[in-house]
Amino acid sequence: MTRRKLVAGNWKMHGSLAQLAELDAIAAAARANPAVDVAICPPFTLIGAAAARGDLAIGAQDCHQNLKGAHTGCVSAEMLKESGARLVIVGHSERRTDQRETNEEVCAKARAVIAVGLIAIVCVGETEAERDAGQAVAVVEAQLQGSIPAGARAAELVVAYEPVWAIGTGRTPTAADVAAMHAAIRAKLGGLLGAEADGVRILYGGSVKPSNAAELMAVANVDGALVGGASLTAADFVPIIEAAA
Ligand code: G3P
Repeated sequence: MTRRKLVAGNWKMHGSLAQLAELDAIAAAARANPAVDVAICPPFTLIGAAAARGDLAIGAQDCHQNLKGAHTGCVSAEMLKESGARLVIVGHSERRTDQRETNEEVCAKARAVIAVGLIAIVCVGETEAERDAGQAVAVVEAQLQGSIPAGARAAELVVAYEPVWAIGTGRTPTAADVAAMHAAIRAKLGGLLGAEADGVRILYGGSVKPSNAAELMAVANVDGALVGGASLTAADFVPIIEAAA
C-alpha cells in the first residue's frame, strides 16, 4: 500500500507572530514537493494567523475531549477547526508526563478530533528505562491499545512513534530499532483496526534533523516525521521535507 509521507512540525511552546514569517518558505517547499504532506502545529494563539497566512496545513498540539462546556482554559477540537486547524496532535509524551494524561483521555481526545472532521496524530513512545528493560514494544502496544479510537479510518488517524529519550536530546534509535518498532506498531494497528491499518501513517519523531532525515525516511513503515526543534525555522525544516520527497 502506498502511503503519502507526512512531515509535521510541532512548535511546542515556541513561536510568535513574527516567527510566522518562517511559514512562507515552508509553504513554498510544500508546493515544490507535492508528493509530501506538510503541516506545522504552532501554539493555540498562533493557529488563526498561521492558517490565514496561506495554504500550508496548520495543526494544534492538544484539545479537550469535549466539544464544549465548563472547562476553563481549555480549547475544543471544534474551536480548533474554526480557527483553521486541520490536524491535532494528542497524547504527546510531554502532556502524558506534565499533565498526567492517560491513554483513556488521549483516546477521548482523538475521538473528539475525528468527530469534527480533523486528523488526529496520536503519539506513543517508551522511556529510556522501559527500553533498557526490554519493554519498549510492550509499552507502545499498550499505549496504542488504550489510545486508538475503535473504528478509526486511515484518513483520519496518524500515529507518531516518539521514543521519549530521543526527544530534544540529539539521540535517535538505530534504523533497525525504528524498523522493528514501526513494524510492531503496524501489526498492533492491524489487530485494532483490521485492513484499515495498512493506510495509517506512522511517523517517527525524536531529534529528526536535516542530517538524519533521509536515513529515517527510508526505513520501512516510516511514513514521515513529527519534528520539534528543527521545525522552528525553514532553514532546518525544508531539507526534512525534501528528504521525505
Ligand atoms: O513532537 C515532536 C517532538 O517531540 C520531537 O522533538 O525537538 O526532538 O524534534 P525534537
